[in-house]
Amino acid sequence: MIHVHVHPDKATAVKSVAASIAKLIRERAAKGQRTVLGLATGSTPIPLYAELVRLHREDGLSFRTVTTFNLDEYSGLGPDHDQSYRYFMQQQLFNHVDVTPSETHVPNGLAKDVVAECAAYEAAIKKAGGIDLQVLGIGRTGHIGFNEPPAGPSTRTRQVHLDEVTRRDNASFFGDVAKVPHHAVTMGVGTILDCRRVVLLAWGEGKAEIVQRSVEVAPADSCPASWLQQHTACDFILDTAAAAKLSKTH
Ligand code: F6R
Repeated sequence: MIHVHVHPDKATAVKSVAASIAKLIRERAAKGQRTVLGLATGSTPIPLYAELVRLHREDGLSFRTVTTFNLDEYSGLGPDHDQSYRYFMQQQLFNHVDVTPSETHVPNGLAKDVVAECAAYEAAIKKAGGIDLQVLGIGRTGHIGFNEPPAGPSTRTRQVHLDEVTRRDNASFFGDVAKVPHHAVTMGVGTILDCRRVVLLAWGEGKAEIVQRSVEVAPADSCPASWLQQHTACDFILDTAAAAKLSKTH
């Protein structure tokens, strides 16, 4: 079941998400427990990470008890490539908070044995106790992580082929669509459904149609995000533009 929360703008929306992440980290830390966060990249979560950095600097939020697992990484890009998701995470969050570097995990886009890398990633998530809260964005194809359609609940961390829509949507970051990799390593839809809480963020009118399909059309592999309807604790955090095509309040 997806619970939809509509905020007037993304700045207000990310404050509420950051506050609930901070509460989770603090409550678990007070009980001596680590918090395992699943993280996304792309333009959507940038203001969320800025708010978490602000909470660290101004409100004493510590990430010393936090372990992170990112959803995905482009195949062929190393951590020093300025479009790699490892690089993005360092710039947006990890370099600015007190997280232990070895507790941050992003799939290795340069792995020689991709199958072994994916199996090791799944094993590392399990060893950490599973993901407490997973942050997601959504692509216009309905992808979560880089699970392009068709993809369903049986999919696990693996290498995937990127949809041309996704490559074009990400071309501006690379300066040229030809430079956007054709493959990525991503957690599967099944890996995401295993997370104890899922929080999907979407802003702007460009996401309104796929948000409506994900929430209101029966789950199908043709819209991987629609499988989130089967999760017991999934929140969609939207601005008014991204919520504009929903037929009712959820
Ligand atoms: C990124 C990811 C993708 C993005 C999606 C939306 O780690 O997994 O699913 O969340 O492509 O991208 P933006 O936020 O740039 O619209």
